[in-house]
Amino acid sequence: MTIGIQTAAYVFASILFILSLGGLSSQESAKRGVFYGIIGMAIAILATVLGDKVHGQVYIIAAIAIASFIGILLARKVEMTSMPQLVAILHSFVGLAAVLVGYGSYIAPPEVANGMTEAEIHSAHMIHLVEVFIGVFIGAITFTGSIIAWGKLEGKIMSKPLLYPGRHLVNTILVLASIVLGVLFAGVQGTDGMLYLYIMTAFAGFIGVMLVMAIGGADMPVVVSMLNSYSGWAASAAGFMLGNDLLIVTGALVGSSGAILSIIMCEAMNRSFFSVILGGFGAVASSGAATAMEGEVTALNHEEVADLLKEAKSVVIVPGYGMAVAKAQYPIYDMVQTLQKAGKKVRFAIHPVAGRLPGHMNVLLAEANVPYDIVFEMDEINEDLPETDVVMVIGANDVVNPGAQDDPSSPIYGMPVIEAWKAEKVIIMKRSMSVGYAGVENPLFYKPNAEMLYGDAKDSVEKILGFLKV
Ligand code: TAP
Repeated sequence: MTIGIQTAAYVFASILFILSLGGLSSQESAKRGVFYGIIGMAIAILATVLGDKVHGQVYIIAAIAIASFIGILLARKVEMTSMPQLVAILHSFVGLAAVLVGYGSYIAPPEVANGMTEAEIHSAHMIHLVEVFIGVFIGAITFTGSIIAWGKLEGKIMSKPLLYPGRHLVNTILVLASIVLGVLFAGVQGTDGMLYLYIMTAFAGFIGVMLVMAIGGADMPVVVSMLNSYSGWAASAAGFMLGNDLLIVTGALVGSSGAILSIIMCEAMNRSFFSVILGGFGAVASSGAATAMEGEVTALNHEEVADLLKEAKSVVIVPGYGMAVAKAQYPIYDMVQTLQKAGKKVRFAIHPVAGRLPGHMNVLLAEANVPYDIVFEMDEINEDLPETDVVMVIGANDVVNPGAQDDPSSPIYGMPVIEAWKAEKVIIMKRSMSVGYAGVENPLFYKPNAEMLYGDAKDSVEKILGFLKV
């Protein structure tokens, strides 16, 4: 493939990636966005593999085929509730790739263009060394940080933040030491700087571990989007090292969209963006001490909940991670339609970090064909809750925790929440009294207007539906 055709293919793929991002900005156009992304990536891979500079295409295509087969097998097995873990592990691959590309590019630097002067060759070499060093640094942080994020999301690593005194100082020293290593690295001839590169990789890897270990359970959404951004910058750095314009553009698109998502997440969680990117945001000013719960927990059965719903004029449903676990979205929509037919006003209230992925609840509700016009964001619906007869909290916990507003000792203090307790009656549907992802007790369960309905969300909704249809 000639350079001209390859460049045209790259421009076309870049346009498709931009259209893909545009498509992903709304639920209606999301499928189209994914389709553009797939086509763009297929064109990008073909144009790169078939390019003049690439040799051993047979091996590369065989490797892509084997990896695609493994990828399809694994991705088919992943449950929707495990998507964040999948995303985190994929980010770690991007980070690792950037590290390996950096090593490879240092050992076998790009060829020098004909007709360059000594000074030009020297500055091109220096620029390349800087690209390698920064690329490996970002890649190593992304790699280890993403693995720790995977461990936390998968429950293999404790979700409590690991905060040790002086950790910011240690991180700062490691960053400064890496800069010194970078200067030494740039000063040596040939590939003698490999040792500096390895030591810096270890430092950056340690920083990645510490940045994410310092983050508490409730703040994990921001970590996922932050690592998404880091993986984009790592890919972009790999693009600079390889002199591949498409990789630079694609990486920058991912990096900047991940950064925008991080800002949106920070606003949703009421956290400072700079504190986030410096890994300091897990250290919420909290005593960590459990506040004693006041009040009594009372429970209803399915028939009693159905009776409450029959009497209600307005109902708001607050779904959470438990709805995803129970796959309760289908019977929930059946229940909504039954209530609507009986003349009730039924709406959904979605918290920006409900579930385990940005937009998790919206995706599940869309899957069950819930119309978008009855799905409201937290900010749009909170003020209507005092006039609502029944709020049904289905598999949600942290996102309806009043402690976020009135308990400064709570680790989620400051996070905006859905004010379910302001409704006439709140029904909380979950299997037990256990805590949510952030690991904090929920005073909502003890409020006088709150009633628990224990059991699996899908099973409970189906039983309520049975009583509603009688
Ligand atoms: P959580 O606070 O995690 O609470 C979910 C509740 O669902 C649990 O308390 C659990 O209680 C219940 N549950 C689990 N399986 C169930 C089932 N089969 N049937 C009924 N209930 C079930 O969820 P949330 O309110 O959606 O809040 C999300 C949390 O995850 C926040 O802390 C957020 O910061 C964090 N997080 C979010 C993201 C993103 S981007 N959304 C990413 C990472 C972390 P039982 O065990 O008693 O049933």
